[in-house]
Amino acid sequence: MNILEQLTKDHENIATLLDILEDQLERIREMEKADYDLVRDIMHYMTTYPDSFHHPMEDLVIEKLIERDPSYREAALSLVKDHTELARKSNAFLEMLLKVIDGEIVLRKDIVARGIDYIQFLRSHMHQEDEQLFPRAKAALSDQDWKHISETIEDRRDPIFGEIVEAQYRSIYEFISLQSES
Ligand SMILES: [Fe+2]
Repeated sequence: MNILEQLTKDHENIATLLDILEDQLERIREMEKADYDLVRDIMHYMTTYPDSFHHPMEDLVIEKLIERDPSYREAALSLVKDHTELARKSNAFLEMLLKVIDGEIVLRKDIVARGIDYIQFLRSHMHQEDEQLFPRAKAALSDQDWKHISETIEDRRDPIFGEIVEAQYRSIYEFISLQSES
């Protein structure tokens, strides 16, 4: 898989997780039984893989693209800012979930509001990347540019969707497998 294929695949995987998250938040809103451990695991993954690898990889693509296509500079820099904002939002939401699991009292409506805000922000961000960033990068970057990007960042395997599912994410993996069977 080349870098753009990997980034696109990451988006599909993230979209799957956001759908699960949204469904769990709906349960919380409706006072149905929700799986807080699953929600926490998903947000833990978001801080571990997308925030720590996928977004830094995109930042490198953006940096190169601005060199090659300066007309896209402003929109591209706003995507970089989004990455910082997303990391802040995912960490804040994860912290809130850890409090809930620890038995602290957190209002349901606050959990739902923070979760929905995160989902909407990330969906709209990924949409801009799919529609604008990726096609522009594909058109403007040379083989040499892609090589430079892949040499700049250390490859990291996806702990859920990669070849090996890490133990702490096994329940998410099983949840997704069960879902796709039904
Ligand atoms: Fe992305």
